[in-house]
Amino acid sequence: MRTVEWHAGKVRMIDQRLLPAEFCQIDLEDVAAVAQAIRDMAVRGAPAIGATAGFGMALAAHTSPADERDALLADLERAANVLLATRPTAVNLAWAVKRTLRRAEAADSADAIRTALLAEAQAIADEDVTINQRLGAFGAALIPDGATILHHCNTGALATVDYGTALGVVRAAHEQGKRVHVLVDETRPRLQGARLTAWELQQAGIPFTLIADNAAGHFMRTGQVDVVLVGADRVAANGDVANKIGTYKLAVVAKENGIPFYPCVPTSTVDLDLPTGDDIPIEERSADEVTGITFHGQRVVPEGVRAANPAFDVTPHRYVTGIVTENGVAYPPLAMTLARMVKESQ
Ligand code: MRU
Repeated sequence: MRTVEWHAGKVRMIDQRLLPAEFCQIDLEDVAAVAQAIRDMAVRGAPAIGATAGFGMALAAHTSPADERDALLADLERAANVLLATRPTAVNLAWAVKRTLRRAEAADSADAIRTALLAEAQAIADEDVTINQRLGAFGAALIPDGATILHHCNTGALATVDYGTALGVVRAAHEQGKRVHVLVDETRPRLQGARLTAWELQQAGIPFTLIADNAAGHFMRTGQVDVVLVGADRVAANGDVANKIGTYKLAVVAKENGIPFYPCVPTSTVDLDLPTGDDIPIEERSADEVTGITFHGQRVVPEGVRAANPAFDVTPHRYVTGIVTENGVAYPPLAMTLARMVKESQ
């Protein structure tokens, strides 16, 4: 089953806010609803957001009353801006919006635009699955039999259209018969690890142990981690990596302990227009995500407490052992090897 798909003229997605308690799909009928779903994280994970934005553009074309090509293109520009304003860090969103807009501009009538946009959105979604499978095969070659893998956030089928990036690597290693064990970071404050990664690994029958984020350093220092695998929301041209908040700490501790640290990304996550990670916009989410937690049914944080909630951090490229892509593993000097990987996809 796909995380997001086109279904009977609507955008259908798994509502990830309800997992693991409830598995439910929602059908979205206009671009405002798609934007809201991305903002609220009914759908999340960089590649899944990209595919959703592609379908959002197709939906905008289908729901627009415009008869003329230029009027439809103007509606699509507006839809693009609505989608682009949802979440700033994952570059896949802007990448998919630009890709669909380019395709629309090449069509010569309103009808042709509508047909072309749906085909392009479908291609983005289909490619995502095959890209992840290729990436998984390259990554699995790095995983020794019997390895313990530390993983942060959720990078599985739910974060993509299907299969996953870093968790796709885990899945591929498992499918090859390697014995792997995953240490799953809870990933506060939204708990994508505890809720979504634990759920996916359970479904796939891959052995794992859930740990509090604060325990990761202990497991690394005491020799209980062989490799750290994460996804990414944007990789700058020099190999700096923006990913879920907490990733930077993992990378530093991994290097301190001689443990390889591999971000696993489709090349659509690499932003060659940004020279370094300092230029990556970091999403600041609502303080409620931090303060609203409950324990034994009770609110944990006193009312009125101020909280900061950056959703991502940047890991400088010196902590990166290599970046696994669908075109192979990019090793330092990343500025050179990443550019080559991206070019191979064009
Ligand atoms: O805030 P989220 O849940 O969208 O953040 C997701 C991540 O940080 C993932 O690691 C990243 O998008 C890569 S998913 C294949």
